[in-house]
Amino acid sequence: MKKKVVVLGTGGTIAGRSEHGSDNVGYTAGQVGVQSLLQAIAPLQAALQGRELVTEQVAQVDSKDMGFSVWALLAQRCAHHLQEATVDAVLITHGTDTLEETSFFLEQVLPVALLQGKPLVLTCAMRPVTSLTPDGPQNVMDAVAVALDSLACGVLVVCAGSVHSARMVQKSHTYRLDAFDSGDAGPLAVVEEGRVRWFGRPTLPAPARVVDLHALSGNVWPRVEVVLSYAGASGVMVRSLANAAVAESPLRGLVVAGSGNGTVHEDLEAALMEIQRLGVRIVRASRCARGQVVQGETIPVFPNSNGLSPVKARIALMLELMA
Ligand code: SIN
Repeated sequence: MKKKVVVLGTGGTIAGRSEHGSDNVGYTAGQVGVQSLLQAIAPLQAALQGRELVTEQVAQVDSKDMGFSVWALLAQRCAHHLQEATVDAVLITHGTDTLEETSFFLEQVLPVALLQGKPLVLTCAMRPVTSLTPDGPQNVMDAVAVALDSLACGVLVVCAGSVHSARMVQKSHTYRLDAFDSGDAGPLAVVEEGRVRWFGRPTLPAPARVVDLHALSGNVWPRVEVVLSYAGASGVMVRSLANAAVAESPLRGLVVAGSGNGTVHEDLEAALMEIQRLGVRIVRASRCARGQVVQGETIPVFPNSNGLSPVKARIALMLELMA
């Protein structure tokens, strides 16, 4: 039976269009269907090495608007294709703005067994299809090279010739084509002329939880918000969040993006302690782009995010509360 590579489209700049070729910022994301997008990449057929290309449009959104219903569907479609014996790899085209959240979410919910030797590779672009020099086609070619590499496993992100793990990847630039990094960890690999040069063996994360992917669509996701600590921060926002009369979805958790090593302004901390006593789960992360909250000898008032960025810590907490 002919082997396949599946590409799931979700929108983003990689599928975006602008009025003028010289306009790389004033475009509308999520305009071109994934099938047309891939058809326009002439060398893709050869890169697939005889495999059939299957495309599926799971969503067509600007990823700033990414939400739980698309995540639920995406997780179900990934699992469906990954468990097919004829499928060698699954790719996702996605906007760059929340790519790190979607990749981390998928890594957390997909059964590890499905990702062994069968990678799930997310890719993106910083310039729309209509750009004079779009970066999407090369990113897709690189993503295919990674997806078909014998060492690849788990959930990976490919952009501008670098390969990142879902756990470490973070969008770190607003405009440059090389918009992602993996902080202190650095990229897992680079892609050079269709060849993947690994800096270390990619590993699968330990299975964190068993998630019923079909139940995700029907579930009411627990409300977990992110608040930032800064000079002059107060408890006003936290108290209003806790008191907001959103009957169907009361506040269940808060991630605080602290300054430096997760430090929190004393007024904000007092409010967080108040709502923690009321049963709201608090997690401390850092607003720093690099490093992680390092535990000292004293017992912390709020547990730390174990190296997760604030937005990823929010996903981990939501999934924990859902379980
Ligand atoms: C998006 O995230 O969908 C728009 C921005 C981008 O893809 O670069």
